[in-house]
Amino acid sequence: MSTEESKERVLSGIQPTHDSFHLGNHLGALRQWVALQDTHDAFYCVVDLHALTIETDPKLLHQRTLASVAQLLALGINPTQSTLFIQSHVPAHNQLGWVLECITGFGEANRMTQFKDKSQKSGADRTVVGLFTYPILQAADILLYQANQVPVGEDQRQHIELTRDLGQRFNSRFGETFTIPDAHIIKGTAKIMDLQDPTSKMSKSAATMAGVIELMDAPEINAKKVKSAMTDTEREIKFDEKNKPGISNLLTIYSALTGQSIKQLEENYSGKGYGDLKKELADVVVGVLEPIRNSALDYLKDPAQLQSILKDGGQRAGSVAAQTLRNVYSAMGLVARG
Ligand code: AMP
Ligand code: TRP
Repeated sequence: MSTEESKERVLSGIQPTHDSFHLGNHLGALRQWVALQDTHDAFYCVVDLHALTIETDPKLLHQRTLASVAQLLALGINPTQSTLFIQSHVPAHNQLGWVLECITGFGEANRMTQFKDKSQKSGADRTVVGLFTYPILQAADILLYQANQVPVGEDQRQHIELTRDLGQRFNSRFGETFTIPDAHIIKGTAKIMDLQDPTSKMSKSAATMAGVIELMDAPEINAKKVKSAMTDTEREIKFDEKNKPGISNLLTIYSALTGQSIKQLEENYSGKGYGDLKKELADVVVGVLEPIRNSALDYLKDPAQLQSILKDGGQRAGSVAAQTLRNVYSAMGLVARG
């Protein structure tokens, strides 16, 4: 048995909806993607079909998809270790998506809180059907690869639950076909908060980007955002999410980026002020993100290299996905072409 076959599978995806990933994506999910490729047979995709649920200028979508790939490489995804690909390169995602739609209850899909939030924000007339079926396509992304683990942030937990339900339902109706995946969510960093509004999660769709640290922003901008983070009027540097959400979020970020424990940081900063913490955290953030940004910019200068990585990843992903799809069709009684 080759090592690939004996390793557990991991799969995750990220949407190319913006020019840059943010610190929440990095700490909540992408860092785990990088770590897991050493121990798992990893499949990572840029989910461009999911991004179609938001109306985007075609040129921008194209650019952002390549920028997403460049950022993943810059963050440390190694394309010889992991299968890195673009979702739309593997048609089996849509094909399995349809099959799963046919075993998903309307009410079940209607309970997805992300759909409710997003559709409420844009209003019924502007909400597309694709947004409603979005989590079912996500389930197809995962089940196609027989993934054991799915590294994501807290906001994706419900979608992974739906994936498990659909996988189990299919297996019990049509025979063992899918591996049932677990969400891989790291407690401490599963929900990084907005620096200006530390009671809301850091999000690409925030009303203002002032509290969102973007990987592709210039170092001065990110340093300034950290230094102007919203904090309370007290002085003590203490982790207390309920009463001191701003400081607690800064400590979480500091701890995640340096490996120092929160307790250690509280001790180091005892007697010091919020200004000291923010200034030093700004240096830490810039120290981590600047090389990532530079590396992503380098990858973007060589689109032929990106294309070749994606071609190889798409082929590898495509053959795994095609095999699962054949099993699915056959289990359901669809006649093979022969
Ligand atoms: P999205 O930006 O919604 O495409 O999310 C990409 C990945 O980052 C998903 O696994 C999310 O769960 C994760 N994520 C997004 N925002 C945050 C956040 N504020 N804190 C932690 N993880 C996040
Ligand atoms: N819905 C996920 C998000 O917004 C993106 C996603 C699509 C995904 N397909 C996936 C995540 C498969 C994990 C596995 O972040």
